[in-house]
Amino acid sequence: MSPTRKFVASGLFGIALGFAVLALASYVAVRAEFQRRTAGAWLRHTIHVQSDLYQLYGLLQAAESGQRGFIITQDERYLDACAEAVRKLPVVVDRLSESVRDDPKQLEAIAEMRPLLGARVEIIDEAIADMRALRVDKAVQLVKSGRGKALMDRLHAIINTMTENEQNLSEKRERELHAAGGEFDAAVWALGGIIFTLAAFSFLNAQKQMNALQRSRDSLKTAYDQLIGETTRREALESQLRQSQKLEALGHLTGGIAHDFNNMLGVIVASLHLLRRKLADSNGDYVQLIDSAMDGADRAAAMVRRLLAFSRRQPLSPRPLDPNKFVSAVSDMVRRALGEKIELETVLAGGLWTTKVDQHELESAIVNLAVNARDAMPNGGKLTIETANCFLDDAYATENMEVTPGQYVMIAVTDTGQGMPPEVLSQAFDPFFTTKPTGKGTGLGLSQVHGFVKQSGGHVKIYSEPERGTCIKLYLPRFNHVEAPAEAPLPRSRPLELPLGRPEELVLIVEDDDTARRVTAQGVRELGYSVVEAENGREAIDIIRRRADIALMVTDVVMPDMDGARLAREAVFRRHSLRVLFITGYTRNAIVHNGVLDKDVKLLTKPFTLEQLAVKMREILDSR
Ligand SMILES: Nc1ncnc2c1ncn2[C@@H]1O[C@H](COP(=O)(O)OP(=O)(O)OP(=O)(O)O)[C@@H](O)[C@H]1O
Ligand SMILES: [Mg+2]
Repeated sequence: MSPTRKFVASGLFGIALGFAVLALASYVAVRAEFQRRTAGAWLRHTIHVQSDLYQLYGLLQAAESGQRGFIITQDERYLDACAEAVRKLPVVVDRLSESVRDDPKQLEAIAEMRPLLGARVEIIDEAIADMRALRVDKAVQLVKSGRGKALMDRLHAIINTMTENEQNLSEKRERELHAAGGEFDAAVWALGGIIFTLAAFSFLNAQKQMNALQRSRDSLKTAYDQLIGETTRREALESQLRQSQKLEALGHLTGGIAHDFNNMLGVIVASLHLLRRKLADSNGDYVQLIDSAMDGADRAAAMVRRLLAFSRRQPLSPRPLDPNKFVSAVSDMVRRALGEKIELETVLAGGLWTTKVDQHELESAIVNLAVNARDAMPNGGKLTIETANCFLDDAYATENMEVTPGQYVMIAVTDTGQGMPPEVLSQAFDPFFTTKPTGKGTGLGLSQVHGFVKQSGGHVKIYSEPERGTCIKLYLPRFNHVEAPAEAPLPRSRPLELPLGRPEELVLIVEDDDTARRVTAQGVRELGYSVVEAENGREAIDIIRRRADIALMVTDVVMPDMDGARLAREAVFRRHSLRVLFITGYTRNAIVHNGVLDKDVKLLTKPFTLEQLAVKMREILDSR
């Protein structure tokens, strides 16, 4: 059952149980109230019966003392009270027998009492009649005979027994009421217990459901993040695909035209040469005209060569090449092209592999890059040319179209110039795309570099930050002198053996480029770390201020407003224990030598594999 359904089901169960408890409570309360009322009614009944019994006894005594008073004093007034008592006697007896009609024992007593009462009244009447007939002796004799007293004693005994009976009944009912009260108390306690248990159960259940909800929300969020990551990656790949299809189509078009145009130019140039030789001795004006025509044709031929280079149709003569020797050899030419305002630095890797390319074309590619860099640094700056061995892995190949995973030699050209905004970056390789004024640039420089590197089986990547600079990396395939057997490939990333992180290790990722940030964040999450993201330095500082548990900050070096170095300084000032890993598209040397970062910082240069990232992060976190 899904957590939501479980939650609803347990809620319904709770409500049903609640209603059942309420119904039970109501039943117990109503029953107790009913018993209380019944007991009250019985108590009143007992009081009535007892008071009637007292009254009965009182009436008997009143009749008797009225009779005695009359006999002693012959005063008729005594007879009034006597007559009144005798008249009321049957009324009280009837009321009594009505009151105790449910009690056979009491009814029996009343039945016994009735003839005795009648006999007693007869004796009184007889004595009064004797007195009236002036038979005083007889009347006194009657009184003295003790018949009246015997009747009275018997009646008294019956009345006492009835009173006792009633008293016993009343006590019995009181005991029953008390027992009912006990039941009520027990029920209340039981109810209290049930309510408490129910509340505890509901609380625990709700907590369990909340945890389940939280877990499903977390997994939803992870799935969502993965989806977003995947979508972003797809969008990036689609855009790369469009770009490469566009370049492909343009290549076909320009390649076809350039090829024919080249043939025609060949004819024109050859004809001009012939003409020039034939007119060598004639008018200098003609020769000048032919020379300028030839100059134009040469420029056109140069452009056609670049177009052919872009369309990957130029004839290449690849030869094994040591990139370090090559860079040393071209650096003089590059220095001349850069002029005096720009400093040139070359950083050559030891143990560099060889590659196999057309040296002449590589030369013009490097010169093209150098000239672009010079144009981007009108007020001077620094150009770094660097070489390194590189392994482009499966992950990098998935992120970048047309890349075959494998070993490459990298030549990177980095400047400290104005950089490229995204809209320029996305078109930089397009033929004839230029931001330079008419007559200054043809827009074929990067097209040529791209076409040539692709034709050589390599890969080009541009990292650029507006106002900061640009780094262009050329990846040329490694050339193995011994063709077979092939060298054992470098170990691929093995996700299961990666040095992983723990969820309690929180990593803050700071990167202004949304796609790059998402991709890095996804990678770090896959390694098992928890991740928070920040778009810029300010946001990162805000997060650091709020959260004390950030173990590592992974930050881009070049960002608008606040760069990685400043961010790291401010962050570490706030949290001394915070570790920092810098990431950059530039090469390490370009970044460090240009004074952007200190020498001993932890830096990872793009492109990096997940394994490299994993190893670097663990190394930093474990070096505490
Ligand atoms: N290092 C760089 N820094 C900043 N922007 C650059 C850099 N390299 C190239 N660009 C941008 O890319 C555009 C295209 O460059 P590309 O080399 O293809 O042509 P171009 O330099 O304009 O002309 P051409 O090379 O034919 O003289 C440039 O106009 C410029 O806007
Ligand atoms: Mg150029």
